[in-house]
Amino acid sequence: TGYVTLDSGYKNTGATKSAITFLDGEEGILRYRGYPIEQLAERSNFLEVAYLLIYGSLPTQTELDNFAHQITTHTLVHEDVRKIFDGFPSAAHPMGILSSLICSLTAFYPKSLDPNQSPEETNLNIIRLIAKISTIAAWSYKNSVGHPLNYPRNDLDYCSNFLYMMFAFPTEKYEINPVVVSALNKLLILHADHEQNCSTSTVRLVGSANASLYGSVSAGVNALWGPLHGGANQEVMEMLEAIQQDGGNTQKWVDKAKDKNDSFRLMGFGHRVYKNFDPRAKIIKKAADDVLKALGIDDPLLKIAQELEQAALTDPYFVERKLYPNVDFYSGIIYRAIGIPTEMFTVLFAMGRLPGWIAQWKEMRENKEPIGRPRQIYTGELERDYVGIEQR
Ligand code: CMC
Repeated sequence: TGYVTLDSGYKNTGATKSAITFLDGEEGILRYRGYPIEQLAERSNFLEVAYLLIYGSLPTQTELDNFAHQITTHTLVHEDVRKIFDGFPSAAHPMGILSSLICSLTAFYPKSLDPNQSPEETNLNIIRLIAKISTIAAWSYKNSVGHPLNYPRNDLDYCSNFLYMMFAFPTEKYEINPVVVSALNKLLILHADHEQNCSTSTVRLVGSANASLYGSVSAGVNALWGPLHGGANQEVMEMLEAIQQDGGNTQKWVDKAKDKNDSFRLMGFGHRVYKNFDPRAKIIKKAADDVLKALGIDDPLLKIAQELEQAALTDPYFVERKLYPNVDFYSGIIYRAIGIPTEMFTVLFAMGRLPGWIAQWKEMRENKEPIGRPRQIYTGELERDYVGIEQR
């Protein structure tokens, strides 16, 4: 193992070449295929960004219409998927349901398992996945609250259809609020890719064994679920609620995060790559303000979040370590304002990150990258003789 260098957590190891997302952590720059995240969040919509990430350039109107049409016509899931839902207890976390059901698509579309599938077949699986994730996600919520499931509506755009499936109730008229649709588009765009983060690296690593797109993305969902990764958005909300119940003393919680004898970390703070403001957090902070105003909501948790941010940003512990708010810090405030329950926050992150996972999986396949197989520095016993159980 003389030639193996150790890099725990791959802090300095580039695992691949990629032409999808540019990230400069020192300067706080994020670009998808060269386009600044600020411009995309302001002017684009989620499906257009998904197209950009997956196919490499912004679509023409015809290309976008065609892409959106294909996705709309694949949103239905096989009726047998409903039977799988019935097997989950209502307390099941929706992320567990999401990863299981994405993986179950391999059973409904077995051609997806063929590593030599045609580009048309791959494209069909890409379309199916983007289409069906919204139905599966909305149903996982309906299942958790015991409400009847809503079938997708082809007359609605991607975000509106998801909101309809999440919130429409048979006994009530459901009206789509454009403020909510626009906020959702923005959040999904901001989450759509982030180069070789934990879940994306997982998707690439699993996919490098020629595993199917569904299997690879299902693995990515599980990686994202972890509280140090996408699961942090749920943790942030729970932390803000705990601070509120504790009397709102934000400095006390900042001190708790600094205490090395306490495993608590300030959720939504710090990042492996950003040693400056996370550009997504800047956009989300402003969007949270705008959305709350537009919806006429006065959320006391926003004030707590702002105070907490201020307390941390002026504390030498956080300053020295260059710990800034990340994408997860303010996103929950918006999710909450548009009615998304806390347990669904990470599912929304997964829906947003899906085009990134797909683009990275596709890039890896097209570049014919070798199977991912890290080495190790062995630290165990060198050699010993087997001892019979009676002599141990
Ligand atoms: N609260 C308190 N201390 C922190 C925090 C925090 N949130 N984040 C990092 N530190 C400290 C850490 O204890 C260490 O201190 P010391 O040098 O004294 O040992 C130093 O800062 C460096 O941290 P690290 O753990 O070595 O950094 P990392 O790059 O391995 O971890 C991180 C990055 C995001 C996992 C970490 O900052 C963290 O746990 N943050 C809270 C969870 C979170 O918000 N995750 C979302 C990440 S962004 C979007 C996403 O991926 O989903």
